Amino acid sequence: MIEAVFEDMALKKKIFAELDRVTKAGAILATNTSTLDINQIGSATRRPQDVVGLHFFSPANVTRLLEIVRTDATANDVVATAFAVAKKVKKVGVLSRVAYGFIGNRMMDPYAREAERLVLEGALPADVDAALEDFGMGMGILAVFDMAGVDVGVKARRANPDQVPKDDPTFYRASQILFDQNWLGQKNGKGYYRYEAGSRDRLQHDEALALLAAEGKKLGVARSGPISRQEITERCIFAMINEGAKILEEGVALRPADIDVVYTSGYAFPRRHGGPMFYADAIGLDTVLAGLKKYGKGRRAADFEPSALLKQLAESGSTFAAWAKSRGL
Ligand SMILES: NC(=O)c1ccc[n+]([C@@H]2O[C@H](COP(=O)([O-])OP(=O)(O)OC[C@H]3O[C@@H](n4cnc5c(N)ncnc54)[C@H](O)[C@@H]3O)[C@@H](O)[C@H]2O)c1
Repeated sequence: MIEAVFEDMALKKKIFAELDRVTKAGAILATNTSTLDINQIGSATRRPQDVVGLHFFSPANVTRLLEIVRTDATANDVVATAFAVAKKVKKVGVLSRVAYGFIGNRMMDPYAREAERLVLEGALPADVDAALEDFGMGMGILAVFDMAGVDVGVKARRANPDQVPKDDPTFYRASQILFDQNWLGQKNGKGYYRYEAGSRDRLQHDEALALLAAEGKKLGVARSGPISRQEITERCIFAMINEGAKILEEGVALRPADIDVVYTSGYAFPRRHGGPMFYADAIGLDTVLAGLKKYGKGRRAADFEPSALLKQLAESGSTFAAWAKSRGL
């Protein structure tokens, strides 16, 4: 059974208790939750060993990625069956542990956070997206927000206050400003960009630019000079890589290559770069470490604090790939 009711823990628990009652012993109960703790969902049943996450990605009939999320209790045969199911429905299964955002969305968070900050600092949304698209991302993240709906992220943060730092007024502030104006993106014609009826062409949205610039000034982050494309790309991508290193450290992802598969099969990360962790190895972890130190200066240092693993590998001239190999992964 794959459950996909809306994102509400009480509702999911109720449904899992019911599924546990009505399905035969040994049936696997999977949830498509994006943010909820699957350990808790499993605890609503008498078969937590048979509960697993099957996290599909929108549009689910197209996107190949499937995160297979094992809880503390999920049995090995259930994980193996989940991989077999993934193959049968022509998805690429990647194993994740339970963690907020699992692998993919958790790494998107610092990436998008930097993109949103850059527009408060004075970069045009078109510049941010162009830098990311030049790097090879399928679509710049601000255009993605306009396409998915600016309200999606705002509502997710509202529902998960623990994930929002209390002391950072710049945190996803740009989307909040648009949301407050009811500029929700393509669905109502205005967001980071402006859209003519029936067109997806991104036009400059001057009213939004004025409000974002005013907010940047108010928060004291507006900058006088232009922001280079290199800075845009490095801040977004290095922040993502650093989060990937934390995910490895914590064992949420088993191998760096798993993260790369998540990103190339689910997030339109450029295949020519191999995935974020492969890319980091290719440019050198010392380069990534130096970038984190540089961009952490004079800003929220905590956000660019290098993961212990990244630091250790960079300082010893190693790579994520060598680390995985040394662990037999
Ligand atoms: N939308 C996405 O892009 C996406 C991607 C990955 C995972 N998810 C996850 O999938 C799940 C569903 O998300 P969604 O965006 O489709 O939500 P949605 O609100 O569009 O759909 C929820 C569905 O749940 C049904 N439902 C509501 N209450 C119910 C109840 N008491 N009993 C049975 N069914 C009930 C509704 O009829 C509706 O079909 C969530 O857990 C979400 O985190 C969504």
